[in-house]
Amino acid sequence: MAGMVIHGAQWGDEGKGKIVDLLTEKANLIVRFHGGNNAGHTLVVGGEKTVLHLIPSGILHGSKRCVIGAGVVLDPEVFLMEVDKLAAKGVDMSPARLAVSLRTHVIMPYHKLLDCARESAKAGAKIGTTGRGIGPCYEDKSSRVGIRAGDFLDEALLAAKIRHALAEKNALLAGLYGLAPLDADKVLEELLPLARRVVPYLADVPAMVQEALGSGAGVLFEGAQGTHLDIDHGTYPFVTSSCCLSSNAAAGSGCSPKDLGDIISVVKAYTTRVGSGQFPTELTCARGEHLQSVGAEFGATTGRKRRCGWLDAVLLREAVRLNGTTGLAVTKLDVLGGLDQLEICTAYTYEGAEILYPPQREGALAHVTPVYETLPGWKEDVTSCRSWSDLPQAARNYLTRVEELSGAPVRIISVGPDREQTIYKD
Ligand code: GDP
Ligand code: IMO
Ligand code: MG
Repeated sequence: MAGMVIHGAQWGDEGKGKIVDLLTEKANLIVRFHGGNNAGHTLVVGGEKTVLHLIPSGILHGSKRCVIGAGVVLDPEVFLMEVDKLAAKGVDMSPARLAVSLRTHVIMPYHKLLDCARESAKAGAKIGTTGRGIGPCYEDKSSRVGIRAGDFLDEALLAAKIRHALAEKNALLAGLYGLAPLDADKVLEELLPLARRVVPYLADVPAMVQEALGSGAGVLFEGAQGTHLDIDHGTYPFVTSSCCLSSNAAAGSGCSPKDLGDIISVVKAYTTRVGSGQFPTELTCARGEHLQSVGAEFGATTGRKRRCGWLDAVLLREAVRLNGTTGLAVTKLDVLGGLDQLEICTAYTYEGAEILYPPQREGALAHVTPVYETLPGWKEDVTSCRSWSDLPQAARNYLTRVEELSGAPVRIISVGPDREQTIYKD
């Protein structure tokens, strides 16, 4: 294996963490390339659950190296809490195993305050952000006033940058949102002990990624969020603040797009979404509640209930063409068991016509009507299936239809949260 991207094809929480953990066996280096601790990636190994927000999902494989790329936004407090928690479980969290790019932007306290203040100030139409300061941190990056992890090496520079940032942020926090202004010395005082602990992890991540690719060691690029939360191609403005597409694996980690190789798009066998925004196949009836409770659909970061609905093959088809999918990993197939009939949205009707791809105009997804195809369900419990032939015929038919509708082959099928509960097709 050279490079392999694992990313989300829907609105996040597709089960990327499980798939990355699974495929880490075939890789030497695992790199997170965008997003921050808005992500919550769940791994279950031998019944034991681990939720990761920033640390790459390969970390439980002792001999593999995990790195955080320049495209990520890093909350040092959350990063170190995660390091400590994993170390307490006996995972080797030394800098030999874990690295952070000097160019990774840092989430500061004022980013978190601004994120939450903006959401509270919105009367309706809240984005429903995770409140982790993600958007404001990426804003500072684009405005070129951000603080980067490499700045932790120069405490005088760090102090100057904080002072400079607060001149503007305090005007917003106090003037616009009526919050107490932050004191630069206090912000620095609280940051320094964290910064000093992050310093040993700082490294030239592009060099590490390129060296691993050059030597033929497998590199897994771990995406966060999902295609339809992408800042450009998602359901704007109900999106996150980074590029969630496979192509960002190169930019966000520091290598060539030619190195990306396989693109595995992770897709739930149905659809979920946390936060606000359009969701054409959402089920607001008992069947939606059924998926929510059987699928235990609660956000791994905020604990919010996830909205649930049928699989939307229009959005999946769009994800396949935006990401260059070479294989699908279909997760949570077990959750569909026991239903008499399953629906898949194969097209939309929009402005009197039938369309196969989502309309481009902002908000248009709220005005489409899904066209459904009904497929027979299956009664069997599939959680013990370990091969394609173990699956009930109706489940195989469902997956074959997903392949036909999306235009991408199914390569991995997940039938339960545990690493073991997986089928490799072919
Ligand atoms: P991620 O953000 O894409 O990594 O996904 P999350 O971890 O936020 O959410 C996926 C949830 O589904 C987690 O609780 C996983 O443990 C769980 N999960 C993953 N694959 C399966 C599966 O095949 N079946 C079931 N029942 N749960 C799964
Ligand atoms: P993983 O990696 C699901 C959603 C939030 C909100 C919107 C913007 O676990 O799949 P933000 O805090 O990023 O500004 O919030 O994006 N969101 C996610 N939804 N999974 C995620 O990550 C998400 N990360 C952000 O709920 O609607
Ligand atoms: Mg998640």
